[in-house]
Amino acid sequence: MNRIFSGVQPTGNLHLGNYLGAIRNWVALQSSFDCIFCIVDLHAITVPQDPAQLRLQTREVTAAYIAAGIDPERCIIFNQSMVSAHSELSWLLSCLTPLGWLNRMTQFKEKAGKQRDNAGLGLYAYPVLMAADILAYKATHVPVGEDQKQHLELARDIAGAFNRRYGVEFFPLPEPQIFGAATRVMSLRDGSKKMSKSDTSDYSRINMTDDADTVALKIRKARTDPLPMPETPEELETRPEAANLLGIYAALTDVTVDAARARFAGQNFSSFKEELAEVSVAVLGKIGGEMRRLVADPGYIDRVLRGGAERARAIAEPHLREVQDIIGLLRP
Ligand code: TRP
Repeated sequence: MNRIFSGVQPTGNLHLGNYLGAIRNWVALQSSFDCIFCIVDLHAITVPQDPAQLRLQTREVTAAYIAAGIDPERCIIFNQSMVSAHSELSWLLSCLTPLGWLNRMTQFKEKAGKQRDNAGLGLYAYPVLMAADILAYKATHVPVGEDQKQHLELARDIAGAFNRRYGVEFFPLPEPQIFGAATRVMSLRDGSKKMSKSDTSDYSRINMTDDADTVALKIRKARTDPLPMPETPEELETRPEAANLLGIYAALTDVTVDAARARFAGQNFSSFKEELAEVSVAVLGKIGGEMRRLVADPGYIDRVLRGGAERARAIAEPHLREVQDIIGLLRP
């Protein structure tokens, strides 16, 4: 069976963007792929993290996976740092990654900003670790948001560079799976900004742990323009807030954005928002409740993570040993 690898960083509160852009799409993949879903704590520490928060958020992401419907028996769920093969393979791959490839990464340029000399080596090498995550399992498919596409291209390039340098066909080139509607969920207060963990405006973001009343309130308060609901696809392009809310509606109800637009065309926003609030509460209210229940039982979460790490190691370690042999690292 083809294998999927994907991951979420345990930083900040998980929100609707993480759910619709990533986790929700994974649930459907479980039956047709061998799935590995990671909580990428080593990626999280490429920027400073509070240790207690990091631990808490690692468990919270695990809870979100399970609450969203990922079956920990069927899939492998684990935190990255528990499987040392990720770090080890990352070093081996970094030795064949040209600096020029990393210099092209737009996310590093954005995150490092003008203070490039102060950015950490880890932040710079982040895409190589991501390649190691994927290649350690010889994953064939990687579901990611639009923003990770460039990193995935790099993972393919690195896999190819390894195969060419050693004249082997060892690593498969992983295929990106980019999902459709609402892979980019925008702020509810500003349609030009991504919904973000770091946004300090409480009403900009729906958290996965929000209760039903909070979800409904945030939808009702979402910023909109004074016009009626868009009538044409072209109109959507000039109305980011409307496009965002329709994208969310479409993703939550599994219809296309255009079908959602057609359904509400010409209506006023308030009736649309009532329906959006209803579907949001139906989906998120349940997940939030389940997440809160799971987070209250860290013993269970830790058992899932321990079991997942063991199963992950059983796949990654033999691959790592093969890589060591191919490179000529002696294992006496
Ligand atoms: N970089 C990804 C993000 O920030 C997370 C990630 C780490 C990942 N390793 C991965 C995603 C491997 C897919 C595959 O969203």
